[in-house]
Amino acid sequence: MIFYFTGTGNSFAAAHTMAEITHDELVDIGESYRMGRFGFRVEQGETLGFVFPVYDRAVPRIVSAFIDWLAFITPNGNPFVPGYCFCAITCGESVGTAAKAFAKELKAALNIRLDASYSIEDVDNCIIKHSPGSPEERRMRNHAAHRQARAVAFSVNAKRMGSMEKKGAWSAAVGALSALGSHAIDIEPFTVDRSVCVGCGTCARLCPTHTVTIENGAPRWDGDQCTLCLACLQRCPVFAIDYGTRTHDRDRYVNPVFKRTPTRLTALAASVDMTVPDPDDVVRQGEYEEPDVDEPSAAALSPYAAPDAGATPDDRACAHENGAAETDRPAR
Ligand SMILES: Cc1cc2nc3c(=O)[nH]c(=O)nc-3n(C[C@H](O)[C@H](O)[C@H](O)COP(=O)(O)O)c2cc1C
Ligand code: SF4
Ligand code: SF4
Repeated sequence: MIFYFTGTGNSFAAAHTMAEITHDELVDIGESYRMGRFGFRVEQGETLGFVFPVYDRAVPRIVSAFIDWLAFITPNGNPFVPGYCFCAITCGESVGTAAKAFAKELKAALNIRLDASYSIEDVDNCIIKHSPGSPEERRMRNHAAHRQARAVAFSVNAKRMGSMEKKGAWSAAVGALSALGSHAIDIEPFTVDRSVCVGCGTCARLCPTHTVTIENGAPRWDGDQCTLCLACLQRCPVFAIDYGTRTHDRDRYVNPVFKRTPTRLTALAASVDMTVPDPDDVVRQGEYEEPDVDEPSAAALSPYAAPDAGATPDDRACAHENGAAETDRPAR
């Protein structure tokens, strides 16, 4: 079973490409979270995967919250032990220590050990910070991402072990400083141009956290659950939404996969048993054991963090370029 979270489609495209090769079921974290669905039937020994974007070199807060609530229902009633567990993190550039942090969260919430971590570089959708690039650049990046997702899927089928993600420069330094992974997100900068908005409700329907509602024919942002996936902003059909002042003149970005597969519901409905589990069947996994994870020590590099003179050359090394260390398969 592969769980994915997506705002603009890159992670869905990656998960979809992978599932075609691995023949795993796909589950949309955004839609499940929206619907309050956290219990899933699994077979002992099946592969468990998580595909999601990196936000400020951290795990999206909605993914962390979902993991906290997630529960597995197994045929024998015992805690779920996957045969192989991986995460594939999509990014514009690199993922820093996000995979390490995710491994820790997974262990804490479900007592499941992450066997492998990968990254997939695609278009950087963070248009509140930078442009998504020219249409030709985006096309090339989408194409390269598709090839990377296929390569990851073959590694998953081979049950390859280790951390193979591109951590990027200053990677050891960033986790502690990542604001978006854990803290409330500022929704104040969201604005709508009422003269452009057609009141279609797409932004509210796509919001996985119920932050957007339609009031008097236009969106309103409320609450402290926003995960800054930018789905509302990027996927408004008439570009009526902005965040601060910088997005107004920037292109919007949506992965072409959504042109082929229009809504997240399509994928979900096609792949998942939607029956509501009996709470008595839901198995909570074992107790949390503190994993052996190094804490990052210093600050990090822009555009997602500030540089730090204390980082070592190793910190600056790119895991992919250096042939990221693979580990032996750990004992459970
Ligand atoms: C708020 C925010 C923060 C981001 N931070 C990073 C980052 O730290 N490093 C990076 O390489 N890409 C970053 N990105 C880019 C996304 O991770 C990347 O475009 C991802 O593939 C988007 O996935 P999606 O289309 O499934 O939503 C960020 C995007 C957003 C919206
Ligand atoms: S998606 Fe755009 S047009 Fe539709 S309601 Fe939201 S802001 Fe208005
Ligand atoms: S308000 Fe917009 S950016 Fe925030 S979670 Fe909802 S769709 Fe994503």
